[in-house]
Amino acid sequence: MPDSIIDLRSDTVTRPTPGMRAAMQAAEVGDDVFREDPTVNKLEAKVADLLGKEAALYVPSGTMSNQIGIRAHTQPGDELICDVNCHIYNYEAGGPAVLSGVTCRTIDGDYGIMDVTQLEGKVRPPDDHCVRTRLVCLENTHNRGGGRLYPLEKIQAIAAWTRKNGLILHLDGARLWNATVATGIPLKEWASYFDTVSVCFSKGLGAPVGSALAGPREFIVKARRIRKLFGGGMRQAGVLAAAALYAVENHIERLAEDHANAQVIAQAIMDTPGLRLTPPEVDTNLIWFEVDHDLGTSKDVAAALKAKGVLVQASGPQKMRACTHLDVSAAQAVRVAETIRSTVGQTVGA
Ligand SMILES: Cc1ncc(COP(=O)(O)O)c(C=O)c1O
Repeated sequence: MPDSIIDLRSDTVTRPTPGMRAAMQAAEVGDDVFREDPTVNKLEAKVADLLGKEAALYVPSGTMSNQIGIRAHTQPGDELICDVNCHIYNYEAGGPAVLSGVTCRTIDGDYGIMDVTQLEGKVRPPDDHCVRTRLVCLENTHNRGGGRLYPLEKIQAIAAWTRKNGLILHLDGARLWNATVATGIPLKEWASYFDTVSVCFSKGLGAPVGSALAGPREFIVKARRIRKLFGGGMRQAGVLAAAALYAVENHIERLAEDHANAQVIAQAIMDTPGLRLTPPEVDTNLIWFEVDHDLGTSKDVAAALKAKGVLVQASGPQKMRACTHLDVSAAQAVRVAETIRSTVGQTVGA
């Protein structure tokens, strides 16, 4: 990708920094399926510690992490409850059904945020006709919800409700790092309300590969076996884990820059007639917005911006997403804002 192109399509498009590559090159490795990779072991211990959980498991992707969690927590014929726009339900290729025989009961959250009152009465009765309600999954920050932060008190209320009803609570925390930096609430505090937590190293933290699933030690033993079943057992994975360790040690605090850059771009969107932030506030590094029909479609806007060297994602006929990340500087965010102001509405749909 030439440096003149600013790629905001996803926060997964980052490339390893020189420091990260050096850490990968120097990584001590062994066979991780034999549990002999010291770098993977170190990463797993570090993540468990950061999240205040007994153990963690390094896995190739956020999708695998969530799906291992679901498989380990459930039996075929169980049901999980989640927001209708969450990643687990929309973007994991039907994983709960395909990999675990689990149905999803979706709740219409407020930009991804569910309120405990929406869960009241959603536990199925012990009746032979019914699936068994077993698991609740939350997402923080919420991707399709516009990078929204889950208010802590809503999590606390949902956690109390799941406990009262004998259910399990899992967090898709692909971007939990962003939530911590945006709020100052420690990772451990966020994680403490959940039985299990999945985090990604390959989003804003900038590692090329990998996620981790954290939880009780016995759960992780079970999860390790399922990782093998799903084909996620890796051998000298320390080369990859070294990048994740480097990211965790060096790239968490800097997410504040991504959040500040997102505000610059969000302001340009707010200032541009025909574009509308959805939700109207940007909490972290994801900027979701909609295009009025008189400007054309999201594809038209994406094409007009691409012609000026700015890549954004057309996520629906009128829906768009732009993400700030490690490879977008403050100066580039200003350039994006200027490009939006000067391009959209001038050339698009005119
Ligand atoms: C909220 C959320 N969860 C999970 C994932 C899955 O991660 P992966 O692409 O590593 O499978 C993503 C990916 O973008 C995500 O946004």
